[in-house]
Amino acid sequence: MAKDLKSVDYGLEKIFEGAQDFLPLLGTDYVEFYVGNAKQAAHFYKTAFGFQSYAYKGLETGSRDEVSYVVKQDKIRLVFTSPLNSKSPINDHIVKHGDGVKVVALWVDDARSAYEETTKRGAKSYCEPFVEKDEQGETVRAGIYTYGETVHMFVERKNYDGAFLPGYRVWESDYNPSPTGLKYVDHMVGNVGWNQMNKWVKFYEDVMGFVNFLSFDDKQIHTEYSALMSKVMSNGNGRIKFPINEPAEAAKKSQIEEYLDFYEGAGVQHLALATDDIIKTVAQLKARGIEFLPPPPQTYYDDIPQRLGEHMKVMKEDIERLQELSILVDADEDGYLLQIFTKPLQDRPTLFFEIIQRMGAKGFGAGNFKALFESIEREQAQRGTL
Ligand code: FE2
Repeated sequence: MAKDLKSVDYGLEKIFEGAQDFLPLLGTDYVEFYVGNAKQAAHFYKTAFGFQSYAYKGLETGSRDEVSYVVKQDKIRLVFTSPLNSKSPINDHIVKHGDGVKVVALWVDDARSAYEETTKRGAKSYCEPFVEKDEQGETVRAGIYTYGETVHMFVERKNYDGAFLPGYRVWESDYNPSPTGLKYVDHMVGNVGWNQMNKWVKFYEDVMGFVNFLSFDDKQIHTEYSALMSKVMSNGNGRIKFPINEPAEAAKKSQIEEYLDFYEGAGVQHLALATDDIIKTVAQLKARGIEFLPPPPQTYYDDIPQRLGEHMKVMKEDIERLQELSILVDADEDGYLLQIFTKPLQDRPTLFFEIIQRMGAKGFGAGNFKALFESIEREQAQRGTL
């Protein structure tokens, strides 16, 4: 019988017994982007995605070399950072990679222990534990490198009552576009180079204590033209899920290869943001100018009842409405899920967002991969990068 398919928050809680507990993670703390113009980026993410002004640091707060705007929607915090002069190392990152994710920050109870346990197991240090203080208390942060130039910061904030971090002031704005129903980071995907996937799977296993709970090879993820491989890593409580992709040999250029060419190395490919009402969220995002990948052909929607099987009985969404909005549907034994992917969010064809609504399903839409990648390939062909 169909289970209760109420949308779940962290449905994987405590199921990964193989995971190790030397690195207890409470959730995603923030995601920091290095961008060419943080002021304009923050405005875009507020306007288009409904993020709210949250915190700020810059010249007015005594930050002479860099400026950061923090925006928030439910549990999701995004930080947009730009350099204020030519000496900042942030410039080099932007020259090489374009706008992209620099820091995937993880919320922990003890940042010193997180740093010690991971560096002891081979993590390369980005910054040693440091304390920041203001009238609201203190935080401890420490960082390690993951793939490419991407960093995991451990954030300990149990002795801090302020809005974001010491050094930031609350950012109040008269311009507050309404939220679009985005709730938390469901998963975050990294693209790594040829033959690098297993190296990074091992890194997440050995250094972070994660488990590999799903794998897809190039026989499962391919189209007529291109292929890729993917392994999904999760921490023990299932709150942090990092699929890792690498390109695979095929007739034409894989979307992962296109990413690696334009990002000039490994990096974060997409953030999947969860909503409880994807139809409402996507309708609003479209009205605000967000462009999504074009819809799959009619046959994709004709086949939905067959693909969903038993879950069709509890599916609340109208298929015609899903088709109008180009939303994809997939199911696994636990339930179904709805998802859609934006086009790249900056000029280089690198980072994009996924919007996802889980109705019990714990997978990543494997049944949609072919339709999705064919859609991406049509876009690649227009860019001359297929
Ligand atoms: Fe995804």
